[in-house]
Amino acid sequence: MCGIVGYIGPREAYPILINGLKRLEYRGYDSAGVALISEKDAQLNIYKTRGKVDDLEHQCASKDISGTAGIAHTRWATHGEPNDVNAHPHCSQSESLALIHNGIIENYLVLKQLLVENGYQFKGSTDTEVLVQWIEYIKVTHKVDLLHAVQIALREVVGAFAIAILEKDRPDQIVAARRGSPLAVGVGEGEFFLASDASPFVEYTNRVVYIHDDEVAVISREKPLKIVNLNDVAQTPEIKEIEMSLSQLEKGGYPHFMLKEINEQPQTLVDCIRGRINVEANNVVLSGVIDNQEKFLNAGRIIIVACGTSWHAALIGEHLIEDLCRIPVEVEYASEFRYRNPVINPGDIVIAISQSGETADTLAAIKLAKSRGAFIYGISNVVGSSIARATDSGSYIHVGPEIGVASTKAFTGQVTVLSMLALTIAQLKGTIAPDDYTRLIGELAGVPDKMEKVLKTDPQIQELSKIFTYAHNFIYLGRGYNYPAALEGALKLKEISYIHAEGYPAAEMKHGPIALIDERMPVVVIATSDSVYEKTISNIQEVKARKGRVVAIVTEGDEAVTDIADYCIEVPRTDERFAPLVSAIPLQLLAYYIAVNKGTNVDQPRNLAKSVTVE
Ligand code: M6R
Repeated sequence: MCGIVGYIGPREAYPILINGLKRLEYRGYDSAGVALISEKDAQLNIYKTRGKVDDLEHQCASKDISGTAGIAHTRWATHGEPNDVNAHPHCSQSESLALIHNGIIENYLVLKQLLVENGYQFKGSTDTEVLVQWIEYIKVTHKVDLLHAVQIALREVVGAFAIAILEKDRPDQIVAARRGSPLAVGVGEGEFFLASDASPFVEYTNRVVYIHDDEVAVISREKPLKIVNLNDVAQTPEIKEIEMSLSQLEKGGYPHFMLKEINEQPQTLVDCIRGRINVEANNVVLSGVIDNQEKFLNAGRIIIVACGTSWHAALIGEHLIEDLCRIPVEVEYASEFRYRNPVINPGDIVIAISQSGETADTLAAIKLAKSRGAFIYGISNVVGSSIARATDSGSYIHVGPEIGVASTKAFTGQVTVLSMLALTIAQLKGTIAPDDYTRLIGELAGVPDKMEKVLKTDPQIQELSKIFTYAHNFIYLGRGYNYPAALEGALKLKEISYIHAEGYPAAEMKHGPIALIDERMPVVVIATSDSVYEKTISNIQEVKARKGRVVAIVTEGDEAVTDIADYCIEVPRTDERFAPLVSAIPLQLLAYYIAVNKGTNVDQPRNLAKSVTVE
């Protein structure tokens, strides 16, 4: 949540900052702002506004935007409504410091009280304004420079932050720090970039340093990168290569990132399984599992923690691991897990799934499980992310940057990694028959071609979407492996079209939700050919008997469901374990086209942000 960008070097900072904000807008988009030290008069110029980065650009068109040092921010509001005053950067009382912040300062009220008692006044209601005033107060009262003020001030701060501070009288440096929220420094030739991830500076440098918790970075003109901890002990910067290309960050001719990312799935699945599945050699090798095989072989239980779409992938993982490996699995919302007193036995493994690798609840669940002695395995998309670093081992899904707020290719990447994980463990444990192992490897390797085929239903789904554009409610039903797929289909629809949608296990419908069904209720049923196909047909009959309108996802050549459903979308036949990978695509497309018909902001739906770094 919230994106931060900074630049210092020989170039004009403003274009770099604005383009950087546009790349980070997926993290939050209710207000935006920029601070620059003017080349003309050495003033600290701050421009900010409610709205998007385009609105900020519009405001800046008539302003002094000169300067080779600057910071900028795009906000997802936590404290204080999204308005001009609460937008970042925030300025200190003397107007000598400007600060941008991603995260939440939990003890801001205590600090604010102390500051008010010492004569500080506040313009807005954000925790960030308290933080900048707090740093200035420490700087003045301790008579120290900005770096030391930041170190002292942050020792008293409770909460999560990635911050960057520009000082009016020091146009030669920017001071930044993190705890719990991501912060990357791009290292160029005689210039530095700061950002929440590497995307804002990928065209300028391929060298990045990820700042760790409780580290403070000083980026200066003509000086090497300086990193110290809060006790002023120097830390050695670890320079990594950026694994991201510019084309991955652009729409590539598609009207929305979401449509691009839906269409990328055949290729991202190939990227995900590359080097891991070898059909000729008849093996699946997930190195994180192989490296820790004793732990997986002896695991008494696996607990999977995740949020949102990643939680839906976890439910599919539960089916796969129990089915193939005979290890009991529990799936937990990370946000619930962290606040109860979970039983973690010696030998339990906790798998944490997170596309962004930055989700605060998942990170906190990892810390809790770790403190109780569990071995933690991470499944993430973002190399070097906080979750990737907090886990003992893990696997990346390798699907490339996902920019649309609604997760699509990350979901199928997560399910694919979980499939490979289950097959790897099952083979090690001997809980899978050799013939089944060989057949399932072939099936999984064949999914990208089936995805290609199912993407050809795009025009049919676009047509179908028009019938439902003005529906107020939807129900999604599925059984077995298709139940989490139904949950995911419903989440996609509600988050981008704002239509209320509920996912339900098809058989559970008769225990309550059936009361909702009448001729106005669209019911999407995932009814592919599987071990519960006949049972699903009975559930469709129950819907039809109450005049519900059924849209069914069926296997090619299906007759029984096709006879009773109002509309059918065919997908290629696949093993039921991998069916959600294929049926995800029509569900994503249906949600996408309904949202487009309604004219909502598909890539940046209201109230949401891509990376939820607050609890
Ligand atoms: O980055 P994460 O996978 O940890 O994010 C978890 C959820 O916030 C995320 O999946 C969210 O539900 C998406 N908007 C779903 O499309």
